[in-house]
Amino acid sequence: MKGLVFVCLLAGAGATYAPTQVKCPAKANFIREGNSLSQNEIDWVDARHEKTGAAVREYLDRVGVEYNKDALDKDGSVNLALAFSGGGDRAMLNAAGAIAALDNRTTGANEQGLGGLLQSATYIAGLSGGSWPIASLQLQNWPTLDEVVFENPNDIWNLTAGQPMVNMTDELGLVWDFATANYNETLTHISFWNNDSSGAGIGANVHAKQNAGFPTSITDVWGRALGHKLFPKGQDNWLESSTWSGIRNLSSFANHEMPFPLITALARYPGSLEFDLNSPIVEFNPFEMGSFDTSINTFHDIQYLGTAVSNGTPSTNSCVTGFDNANFVVGTSLSLFNEFLYTLVCPTCNSLNAVMKFIVKRFLENMSAKLQDVAWYKPNPFFHSEFLASTNLTTSDTLYLIDGGLAGEIVPLSTLMVKEREVDVVFSFDNNGAAWPDGTSLIDTYNRQFTYEGKSTVCPYVPEQSTFTNHNLTAKPTFFGCDAANLTALAKDGVVPPLVIYIANRPYEFFSNITTLKLTYDDHEKKGMIANGFDVASRGNLSTDWQTCVGCALVRRAEERANVEQSDQCKKCFQEYCWDGSVYEDASYKPKPNFTLSGLTNNPMKLMGNNSYIQVQPVASGGFFSTAALGFLLKVWGWIKSKF
Ligand SMILES: *[C@@H]1O[C@H](CO)[C@@H](O)[C@H](O)[C@H]1NC(C)=O
Ligand SMILES: *[C@@H]1O[C@H](CO)[C@@H](O)[C@H](O)[C@H]1NC(C)=O
Ligand SMILES: *[C@@H]1O[C@H](CO)[C@@H](O)[C@H](O)[C@H]1NC(C)=O
Ligand SMILES: *[C@@H]1O[C@H](CO)[C@@H](O)[C@H](O)[C@H]1NC(C)=O
Ligand SMILES: *[C@@H]1O[C@H](CO)[C@@H](O)[C@H](O)[C@H]1NC(C)=O
Ligand SMILES: *[C@@H]1O[C@H](CO)[C@@H](O)[C@H](O)[C@H]1NC(C)=O
Ligand SMILES: *[C@@H]1O[C@H](CO)[C@@H](O)[C@H](O)[C@H]1NC(C)=O
Ligand SMILES: *[C@@H]1O[C@H](CO)[C@@H](O)[C@H](O)[C@H]1NC(C)=O
Ligand SMILES: *[C@@H]1O[C@H](CO)[C@@H](O)[C@H](O)[C@H]1NC(C)=O
Ligand SMILES: *[C@@H]1O[C@H](CO)[C@@H](O)[C@H](O)[C@H]1NC(C)=O
Ligand SMILES: *[C@@H]1O[C@H](CO)[C@@H](O)[C@H](O)[C@H]1NC(C)=O
Ligand SMILES: *[C@@H]1O[C@H](CO)[C@@H](O)[C@H](O)[C@H]1NC(C)=O
Repeated sequence: MKGLVFVCLLAGAGATYAPTQVKCPAKANFIREGNSLSQNEIDWVDARHEKTGAAVREYLDRVGVEYNKDALDKDGSVNLALAFSGGGDRAMLNAAGAIAALDNRTTGANEQGLGGLLQSATYIAGLSGGSWPIASLQLQNWPTLDEVVFENPNDIWNLTAGQPMVNMTDELGLVWDFATANYNETLTHISFWNNDSSGAGIGANVHAKQNAGFPTSITDVWGRALGHKLFPKGQDNWLESSTWSGIRNLSSFANHEMPFPLITALARYPGSLEFDLNSPIVEFNPFEMGSFDTSINTFHDIQYLGTAVSNGTPSTNSCVTGFDNANFVVGTSLSLFNEFLYTLVCPTCNSLNAVMKFIVKRFLENMSAKLQDVAWYKPNPFFHSEFLASTNLTTSDTLYLIDGGLAGEIVPLSTLMVKEREVDVVFSFDNNGAAWPDGTSLIDTYNRQFTYEGKSTVCPYVPEQSTFTNHNLTAKPTFFGCDAANLTALAKDGVVPPLVIYIANRPYEFFSNITTLKLTYDDHEKKGMIANGFDVASRGNLSTDWQTCVGCALVRRAEERANVEQSDQCKKCFQEYCWDGSVYEDASYKPKPNFTLSGLTNNPMKLMGNNSYIQVQPVASGGFFSTAALGFLLKVWGWIKSKF
């Protein structure tokens, strides 16, 4: 019964993947300038703070933080944000473990982890793989991670080889379609392309959107394929019609029981294939889609995306809803197909042999020429927006979006750390790279605040990359921006950068640096990754002061605002966890990762024994490349290699 109500709420009668035409609201204008938060967000955050205030106090008392109680506002809230990096399934599973460790509903999280911080957080953001757990939990109305992954009868987050993204039943046909660059036919080999007894297949979804007059690309197919992993089959055909704006109607969001969810993508300039740190970031939140960055500087009501507008005003009295399909939004944040041109088949790329490189290059170039490898937002929601600084973005009929992490900032910090959000403290969970994170993503965030696009972002000082590794800043959590007084030169409109709690992926009980190319995980590997993510957030329960020191970081900005001196306990914590400003200047310094449980990086690694959240035995990582994004291509190459 509960399930049924839930389905109706999300789906509405007769809804499908395709957007629908509706009558426009009276006096409709869907855009505003990107120089403030929306009134909806302000109101929502105010109400959320009534909940987080109690949770913050509860956390501080439970872990025994010595702080001045008068320093906290009367509702006790601080503006806490959580950010999860991209990095495919690795990022998704590591993030999932961290979310479990922060959630006071998870067994053991209060004792061993940072239980209560999820309840204390105002914002939660993810991009690419990091957006998956957020979307999956959010659209199921915010259950615990355990319920979804380990207790759910719906067989979701099943990443085994038994449930591949690519249907290999017709291998020969697949190879032929691929080699002849028959893009449309190649897509038909994705799993669940055809209708089956549970309803419309992915092919029917995509055709329905096309028939409704909206162009599609691989992002639509990919988003729906992801939906078949992240959402329950029995509910509205893997949530085929649920929307990002529909989150407003979910009780967890409507009652402010979860943090405000954000996921991000990047905009690509029309007529250009390029992207870099200076590419505009576009965020999706339950109220709006848009950007604080200079070029776009506009937000659009996300519920009415897909409506043809000029400067925000509908061109006819027919408007569109349902374009902000949740599958499509998640697919957009992870729309990285355009990148393969640079990472797989570039002139100096050598992971493929000459024949393979030729075939793959041809296929990718064909896709790229037709712009089928990026997400299409047509009609352009920012068409003729008076707030845009970029003429080519404002005059284009289509907005092209790509994966949020492609430009280097792989943790979605810039979006959270816009001055408008006035965040006090942000967790940066960095799950970048099979070679373990090395701080570069945070450095990118720092540098981005000085770019043309980064006009709204504030970020504390961070050192160069070699300092991260040489001074062990990736080996254990590190706080940046500990003293607001030292950051005044970086303030924008009086808003100083938040304190950043940087936490890099590292192994406690599982080698969690699994390559992004591996997207099949057996049950054991999946649990190992999630358990290790829990350990990373909780420092493996081996550091007695970690829970307390996080509490000290939590109240820091409030204490500074109230001009209250930090307790001796917290001073000690800051000595242990704050970057002290010292640097190591040798750009060529590249240590081999070498881990210890005490948090240092150059002693032999010994995996944690039976002290863990979920007990798993370490296994060798790796295995056959059977993947989703790349798997689509790699499977075919594997097959060809074995035949020729
Ligand atoms: C979790 O936190 C919420 C919000 O502070 C609180 O109401 C609830 O009792 C806590 N639950 C547990 C199990 O600690
Ligand atoms: C995942 O899917 C495979 C293949 O359908 C199935 O054998 C396995 O039991 C599933 N695993 C879980 C945990 O549901
Ligand atoms: C291939 O797909 C694209 C986009 O989905 C569509 O516009 C085009 O008409 C299709 N071409 C063929 C030959 O079906
Ligand atoms: C894979 O393709 C076969 C043959 O076309 C089809 O019978 C089967 O249902 C497909 N499986 C999935 C999961 O789409
Ligand atoms: C199956 O696909 C066809 C054509 O793609 C579509 O017209 C039909 O409505 C679909 N059936 C179901 C049950 O979704
Ligand atoms: C929320 O639900 C109401 C009532 O069913 C509906 O009218 C409204 O369009 C929904 N809002 C969104 C954003 O889906
Ligand atoms: C893409 O490949 C198809 C099939 O080989 C071909 O007809 C088409 O002209 C190609 N398009 C581009 C832009 O290369
Ligand atoms: C589009 O505009 C942006 C900024 O206004 C500029 O940096 C970029 O070079 C332009 N791109 C093209 C292809 O004209
Ligand atoms: C994971 O890290 C370990 C230790 O640094 C290393 O030996 C291994 O090669 C890495 N795995 C991958 C897939 O890069
Ligand atoms: C980093 O850790 C190593 C031990 O693994 C230690 O020798 C070194 O002094 C540490 N560096 C800093 C700056 O603390
Ligand atoms: C902040 O500035 C003070 C005074 O100059 C200095 O003692 C302290 O080390 C600085 N803190 C950091 C984290 O750089
Ligand atoms: C790891 O560090 C220890 C102690 O510093 C050293 O003896 C060992 O050779 C290192 N291992 C690797 C693989 O670098």
